[in-house]
Amino acid sequence: MKKRLKAMFFSKAAIAFFTVLSAISALLFYSVRYGFVFVDDVLYTGFSLGLFVFTAIGAACLLAILNRKAQGKYFICEGATNAVAFLCEVLAVITFLYSIITIIVDKGMSLSTAYALFKSALPVWAFITGVAFFAFAFPLIKNKVVSRIVRCVTALILIAAGVVSVFPIQPFTFSSSPVVFDNGSEYSIVFSTSSDSTGYVAYESNGEWIRVYDVNDGRKKKDRIHTVTLQKDELSGKEYRVGATRIIDELSYGGRTGKTIESDGIFFHDDFADDVNILTVSDWHTKNKKALSVSESLGSYQAVILLGDCAPGLMSREDICDYILDFAAELTGGTMPVLYVRGNHETRGRAASYLADYLGYDSFYYTTSIGSYDFVVLDSCEDKEDTHPEYGGMADYTAYRSKMTDWLCSLESTGRNTIALCHSPDLCLEPELAARSFDKLESMGTSLLASGHLHRVALDESKSFPVFIDGGVDSAGSGSFAGAMMSLTSDGIRLKCQDNNGSVLLEKSISWNK
Ligand SMILES: [Fe+2]
Repeated sequence: MKKRLKAMFFSKAAIAFFTVLSAISALLFYSVRYGFVFVDDVLYTGFSLGLFVFTAIGAACLLAILNRKAQGKYFICEGATNAVAFLCEVLAVITFLYSIITIIVDKGMSLSTAYALFKSALPVWAFITGVAFFAFAFPLIKNKVVSRIVRCVTALILIAAGVVSVFPIQPFTFSSSPVVFDNGSEYSIVFSTSSDSTGYVAYESNGEWIRVYDVNDGRKKKDRIHTVTLQKDELSGKEYRVGATRIIDELSYGGRTGKTIESDGIFFHDDFADDVNILTVSDWHTKNKKALSVSESLGSYQAVILLGDCAPGLMSREDICDYILDFAAELTGGTMPVLYVRGNHETRGRAASYLADYLGYDSFYYTTSIGSYDFVVLDSCEDKEDTHPEYGGMADYTAYRSKMTDWLCSLESTGRNTIALCHSPDLCLEPELAARSFDKLESMGTSLLASGHLHRVALDESKSFPVFIDGGVDSAGSGSFAGAMMSLTSDGIRLKCQDNNGSVLLEKSISWNK
């Protein structure tokens, strides 16, 4: 038994195995550090980061022990060396399990965040482990064939990395088709490409094609996401196309461009009759496919309202492309307007600050109309106080909500049928601001507040106007998704909420409150 345990934990093969596990665990653990705040909240601040530091030190210790063992030597004595090795091995196993559990507990919804963190940490990790391997492990390989294979593989990797850095090899395509966002006063056409490019929108006007580039102060913007803003009448009822040219190199003098691609013509429709069906979706949290299947089962619609929370956070441009643009493009085909309502999870992550620019919004609180119906769009931001550890010191939303409430109170009533939209049904975290906002919406004759955030389907009729919560992920049981159709007619609003099994969860008619 003692011999077997010794072989399992302290043989050369075991130490080599745990060295590799330790290095992988450190990378994985660093990639799921979005979960640190929850564990630290229960234990103490800095616990998880400390665990990471000790695991990284443990990997280095194991490598040093392996090196000594291969030479038949020990640090101090065999017992002390084995005790240190065992501690490092336990750390490797704990951080590995911690990482896996972190990914599992939120049902894979944070996989995109983990991937973004993994991608940014990988080059540093590869450099450190590569240098460590060639300094301490490679000299121990006595077998000439294995040694030669390792050298050949390393040389091939270096050559491939050099070629790829100079000549892009992946094909250049649109990674998401265009989406037309209604920002209140204008339409912004947004699409993305597989790599950095310049982009444009061309629209047909009186038999001529007019091309408008995505520019910053006259300079074409180099980005994966392109945003072109047009006056509403420039796009209304027109055919348009989007195009992009790959940018390979940018220099002070000259540069290098690649292939140019252009979409087929798309007809944009915003000429609404009195009867209009609007799809509402909230809290899809990366579950695009489920949300798309519910949307299809709800029937045809002429506009889309996205009520926020596309992912746990916006860690990169890729998150915006995958969970907002690609999703909205699949829902609309770029043929109808989309109203975006910011969710609390769109205020988090490294790309959150750029969301408004990318979607073409000056602000996430605004007014607009769909046909003869008015919409007041509010931005509830986060649902906890600004100092909450989940926000990593980046939140200043109390001041923002106060400004938004002042803006709301300055609005004049249009006398038309009005619907309010806000991710949180509470409107504002601060009771005083929430009360002012509800009072103002009531005085404007608001007939309905449509919201999400709670991951359930409900219609609260206890307030001066009904408050609708349209579903989202897990709203009809674990693994489910529910979305809604909001049908507007001159008589009133009809709400129909359905889940991904086709079950109707809510059906209700509401009169206009003019
Ligand atoms: Fe939310």
